[in-house]
Amino acid sequence: MSDPFRTRVFSGIQPSGGLTLGNYLGALQRFVTTQDDGTETIYCLVDLHAITIWQDPAKLRHATRELAAGFIAAGIDPQRSILFNQSQVPAHAELAWIFNCVARMGWLSRMTQFKDKAGKNRENASVGLFAYPALMAADILAYHATHVPVGEDQKQHLELTRDIAIKFNHDYEVEFFPVVEPVIEGAATRVMSLRDGTKKMSKSDPSDMSRINLTDDADAISNKIRKARTDPEPLPDTLDALTERAEARNLVNIYAGLAGCSPADVLAQFAGQGFGTFKPALADLAVARLAPINTEMTRLMQDVDEIDRILADGAARARAIAAPILAQTHEIVGLVQRREV
Ligand code: TYM
Repeated sequence: MSDPFRTRVFSGIQPSGGLTLGNYLGALQRFVTTQDDGTETIYCLVDLHAITIWQDPAKLRHATRELAAGFIAAGIDPQRSILFNQSQVPAHAELAWIFNCVARMGWLSRMTQFKDKAGKNRENASVGLFAYPALMAADILAYHATHVPVGEDQKQHLELTRDIAIKFNHDYEVEFFPVVEPVIEGAATRVMSLRDGTKKMSKSDPSDMSRINLTDDADAISNKIRKARTDPEPLPDTLDALTERAEARNLVNIYAGLAGCSPADVLAQFAGQGFGTFKPALADLAVARLAPINTEMTRLMQDVDEIDRILADGAARARAIAAPILAQTHEIVGLVQRREV
């Protein structure tokens, strides 16, 4: 397909629980650099995705505002980027319905995230959890976004977004939706648990010691890094030598992600040194990078009205972009258009 679409970046984060270092390195930090490059950027707090699993209403509202504060504290400028929560823009849910009719049961049944989240008792999972990736496709395609920065765990969902766009374009004989490019780049696209280097760092892990939260203070960050599981060997001088050392590899990747360098650069600096030296250096770096974000988040959360105002403004700008795309989608599909009376 020729590429008539201008570059537009879209991404989202769920307001279910707080932000982790995984969210920060795999997504948020990269959202900021993309914005600072001058690219058009739209960032969404995906509250409709969050409720695919039951959320306490008061906690969800708090988490949504705190997530907005996290975006701004990390460097998202709500003037230059559009920042809003999904439920304020009805185009997401409306387009998702159309995509529910494009996506196939078989495609959604193969989603590993659904299998993980639904667990053994699939009969009891919400229909929303099953249809989750069609809503994600709608998030992106409602803006004709072309590029989507995410961590590695979202790769399969973005392949499905591509499949939905291709099938829609094919079924209606149009070149209407762009086939998006996942942008999965950098040293830390899969940050692992601090307690088990084979498991992803996640806000849903029962052990708080497994993750660094963006709300952790300096002492908590240092303590978690000091107690992170490792092995007794010193750091090697090649990445190949870390293949069988998942925990060591993870800490090297985290260092690289925070320092903005490659894992090879980290080894060039620390080869031959043990974790007794490396962990304090990593803790200092993590505190230097994360503590100012934490402080700024706390400050921003003191003025919730201002956060709500920013989200309302972002939602209005988002609606203005999505409305004509949704109207054209209705036209293509054969739905009689809404008219003013
Ligand atoms: P969510 O909320 O689980 O995570 C938000 C972003 O953080 C990344 N991430 C990680 N990256 C590296 N290491 C980790 N341990 C780690 N944990 C999380 C995720 O890859 C993601 O980029 N379905 C999405 C939200 C979504 C979305 C969208 C994303 C909804 N609509 C449209 C992009 C475009 C999700 O649940 O992300």
